Amino acid sequence: MSDRLFIFDTTLRDGEQVPGCQLNTVEKIQVAKQLEALGVDVIEAGFPISSPGDFNSVVEISKAVTWPTICALTRAVPRDIDVAVESLQYAKHKRIHTGIGTSDYHIKYKFNSTREEIIERAVAAVKYAKRFVDDVEFYAEDAGRTDNEYLARVIEAVVKAGATVCNIPDTTGYCLPGEFGAKIKYLMEHVDGLSAGKAILSTHCHNDLGMATANTMAGIIAGARQAEVTINGIGERAGNTSLEEVAMILKCHKGLGIETNISTQKIYPTSRLVSSLMNMPVQPNKAIVGRNAFAHSSGIHQDGVLKNVETYEIIDPKDVGIDDNSIVLTARSGHAALKHRLQTLGIELSDEALDKTYEAFLLLADQKKELTDDDILMLAGADRTASHAIKLEYLQVTTGKGVRSVAAIGLNISGERFEASASGNGPVDAAIKALKTIIRRQMTLKEFTIQAISKGSDDVGKVHMQVEYDGHLYYGFGANTDIVTASVEAYIDCINKFKK
Ligand code: KIV
Ligand code: ZN
Repeated sequence: MSDRLFIFDTTLRDGEQVPGCQLNTVEKIQVAKQLEALGVDVIEAGFPISSPGDFNSVVEISKAVTWPTICALTRAVPRDIDVAVESLQYAKHKRIHTGIGTSDYHIKYKFNSTREEIIERAVAAVKYAKRFVDDVEFYAEDAGRTDNEYLARVIEAVVKAGATVCNIPDTTGYCLPGEFGAKIKYLMEHVDGLSAGKAILSTHCHNDLGMATANTMAGIIAGARQAEVTINGIGERAGNTSLEEVAMILKCHKGLGIETNISTQKIYPTSRLVSSLMNMPVQPNKAIVGRNAFAHSSGIHQDGVLKNVETYEIIDPKDVGIDDNSIVLTARSGHAALKHRLQTLGIELSDEALDKTYEAFLLLADQKKELTDDDILMLAGADRTASHAIKLEYLQVTTGKGVRSVAAIGLNISGERFEASASGNGPVDAAIKALKTIIRRQMTLKEFTIQAISKGSDDVGKVHMQVEYDGHLYYGFGANTDIVTASVEAYIDCINKFKK
């Protein structure tokens, strides 16, 4: 008989803390519904006390989703728990996730407290949350750097107070896999409530040293029965453990005897949806969902794969939802085909939005022979800038080898046209200089990345930018078959977000 591992997805909470990746409530609902289709057991929908937007997202996700448990994060503070309870009122299955730092670093510097007092506060928070919900998860923040003997005392106390799941986060991504596995084993052996089946342990690993998945697997092998993960491994700093990696490791290594409820064929569409809505590119060599994850380029590998695919492939791409035959739409594809593809990708549009997306689809299909899922997701999100005060009306650039680039630009600012031109040491430099002669603010470009969506010289380029203005960083995004236009659009996207 195989053991069941519960998948706790925190893309919409820990994942969404990535600067520049914030989603609005409608987008969060799209992601939550896709996570439900993917088969996750728990969706951490937000940290309701942190902002009215987070509160509202937990309310709306609770209404939209049926099967997964909806979880809301709190600190070990009654007011946080009250607000979380209110946000979860429509959830069919609800969980409160409360906790406190347990490492000496947190006890001393964050709380100026003592080990005994932290146990009291942890127990009080769990008991308080238990007044409102049966399912209470406790997190021991920075458990990775918490001494095992003390951690076992904390966990024993919160299980006695009624915690059903105990989360052991490696908050700073510090642990080695052997060390993290030994920590989980130690807790399994020394906390009575765990062996008695009153609660399960959960892993929550960060990737600061590139060991998040390895640590999670070590924890699972040592007895943890819930893994906290995000799609594409997104999350603060170097990110969290990625859902797709854990799900596919368990599918490939059946000998471990541990199963999840994940429909693995939905992994790829979910990855694309999250990447597109968050404007967060997936690195090409990312395990399972990166563009190159199944691309064999060396002659020896290609030869082997042609003879028998199992020589170099341990995963059938179709098992994670990559079906090369199904990802192409062309100018001859109709409205219904586009609608169907959007639904497969987890996007439901109103008739009006679908008409607009179809118009944009036909325009792009004139420029590109084949449109991929990424192109389609990009088009479906394109009208996010519709309410922006500053829009690019036109851009003309002369550039080439041995000549200085010159750009002429036209902006529409709240209905009025402004024009300017400038020269620069390349087309983007010239275009941004021209833009800056219209928008006269002290702003500095801090980060600039260009990525092709798929392949081919007619591909759409995605541009991410970070602009500093008045002591704040703003994140912008642009996508166009012309990368200079995409760059200027990304810059304008940043400006449109400036605090007035
Ligand atoms: O990394 C962490 O410790 C967390 C907790 C709040 C669960 O995200
Ligand atoms: Zn975390």
